[in-house]
Amino acid sequence: MDHTTIADCYKNHSGDYFHRMGGAGRYVGYEDWHPAVLTLGCAYQAMKVRTFSELQPFWSRLPLTIMSGCDDLRQKTLKLLTANLDDTVVAVPFLKWVEIEIRESVKRSYGHEVAAVFTKKMAEIKNDLGLPVDTKTVQPLLVPSSVKVDVLRPDVSDIVTQDFVEYCCELYKLDHFGDHGYAHWMRVLYNGRMLAAETGANVRIVELFALLHDTHRETEFDDPEHGPRAAAYAQRLLDGEISGFQFDLTADEKKQLLIAIHDHSKPINPSKIRQLNIGVCWDADRLDLQRVGIRPQPHSLYTRYACESDVIRSASFRAQQIRL
Ligand SMILES: [Fe+2]
Repeated sequence: MDHTTIADCYKNHSGDYFHRMGGAGRYVGYEDWHPAVLTLGCAYQAMKVRTFSELQPFWSRLPLTIMSGCDDLRQKTLKLLTANLDDTVVAVPFLKWVEIEIRESVKRSYGHEVAAVFTKKMAEIKNDLGLPVDTKTVQPLLVPSSVKVDVLRPDVSDIVTQDFVEYCCELYKLDHFGDHGYAHWMRVLYNGRMLAAETGANVRIVELFALLHDTHRETEFDDPEHGPRAAAYAQRLLDGEISGFQFDLTADEKKQLLIAIHDHSKPINPSKIRQLNIGVCWDADRLDLQRVGIRPQPHSLYTRYACESDVIRSASFRAQQIRL
């Protein structure tokens, strides 16, 4: 069984059942996140993380009509998952990725708010069960089958390693599925590598910028100090004061990276930018603006290549369509 088996069970079995039955319109006390929690509860039981009675933190959050009514939905879901059981995987870390996959499905069907409630409920449940609660880390190389692998799965490099990406994910206090989290970083990385290949900009600076520039946001909205905060942190990171990561940047490369991070959200006229590496970092970020409904404008971009209509069009497509 891979992680999509359980997510598919949610989509095509338990979630689908409620769609067909009229969902909240039919069942008193029903909420849109219920089938997702039910499916995961059954997965925890099927994978023998706990017994049925020990999994009470799951069941107590669901209405009785789901637990003991609804045409034996719980029993059927459990049977389906048990039939696909794979005892070669370690259940708890495996189920963490299943949860991410299901949360994406919930978000696509019901929107961000319902997905946030689902995340909160799962954190409460795992806390009650004494299991590790981890809502911040996103496994960077995990790519749902529904998205284009070649865009979101980053090629590794001496900077973009599993360990360093996980480390950056941990630094971020907000939801990685929001506008400034991991999915955005991966698109900035994609845009930046493409621009660097085209312009000869320093790809190491671009990679570090993509991973670090938004790590210190404290809100998805107006947060003018997030650039300076991230730059201050990056300085200590590059100087080897924190973490065990080492990056062999020259003093000049370091300086350019820190400026790029520090000033990336300032309204600086691109014609005033004097350094290609900095311009490419900012173009890579701005080319992803369509995710918040803003079409990137050539007058706000530095490199001629980023201004090409095909480049803007394809970056905007990725920004809208390809979410982790
Ligand atoms: Fe950004």
